[in-house]
Amino acid sequence: MARNGAEQDGSGQDEPGQDGLGLAGVIADRWSPRAFDAGAVLGDDEARSLFEAARWAASHGNTQPARFLLARRGEPAHERVFAALSRGNRSWAGAASALVVAALATSDAKGPLPNAEFGLGLAVQNLVLQAVHLGLVAHQMGGFDPEALREAFSIPEDVRPAVVIAVGREGDGSDLPDDLRAKDERPRKRKPLTETVFSQEWGKAAFTPEAPATS
Ligand SMILES: Cc1cc2nc3c(=O)[nH]c(=O)nc-3n(C[C@H](O)[C@H](O)[C@H](O)COP(=O)(O)O)c2cc1C
Repeated sequence: MARNGAEQDGSGQDEPGQDGLGLAGVIADRWSPRAFDAGAVLGDDEARSLFEAARWAASHGNTQPARFLLARRGEPAHERVFAALSRGNRSWAGAASALVVAALATSDAKGPLPNAEFGLGLAVQNLVLQAVHLGLVAHQMGGFDPEALREAFSIPEDVRPAVVIAVGREGDGSDLPDDLRAKDERPRKRKPLTETVFSQEWGKAAFTPEAPATS
């Protein structure tokens, strides 16, 4: 399937990695497809590699708040994670090779963990980019019932599920209903740097639309 409408858009205006700014390949190639290959299996080495990448993320004071639960398609745990997804996410995420619950430990023996959600986010981004590096795709989902997961897996009170990540091989979209395939083919959009990066004063764009500012 075309990567999120790159061909449909055709403008070349806002595709990651097309601007000559040397974006890392895994960042340029990452996206969140709904089309997964329902026959693909996540190998043990691939799975371990994903979590090893997550393990090396930075965290506040090296407190390492990220926790994961791996549920590969076909395993009983997969059914329980799948059942906790929102209806919309259930319409495509079952074809992924695995569903990964990403949770944050909110405290340890010394007390509350600072910036724990931030730490989990960094670890998840490492995992997602490692997936791209391995030729896989990963799609994060906030649409799920965290309490259903807590009950299904006896997740402790001080651990909070934050996202479920569908991981697998990109599919051709032939199994998807038309509306979901259309979503995967939509051009990707981002706010321009002029709206998000400031210098001198808040709200004053650091960059022109075309070129970096020279101090
Ligand atoms: C915390 C978080 C929650 C998300 N929840 C969902 C979700 O429940 N369902 C879904 O289809 N996509 C979900 N996404 C994916 C976003 O919609 C997607 O990342 C965003 O549209 C940008 O697209 P891209 O990842 O292809 O660049 C989520 C992403 C994040 C980071």
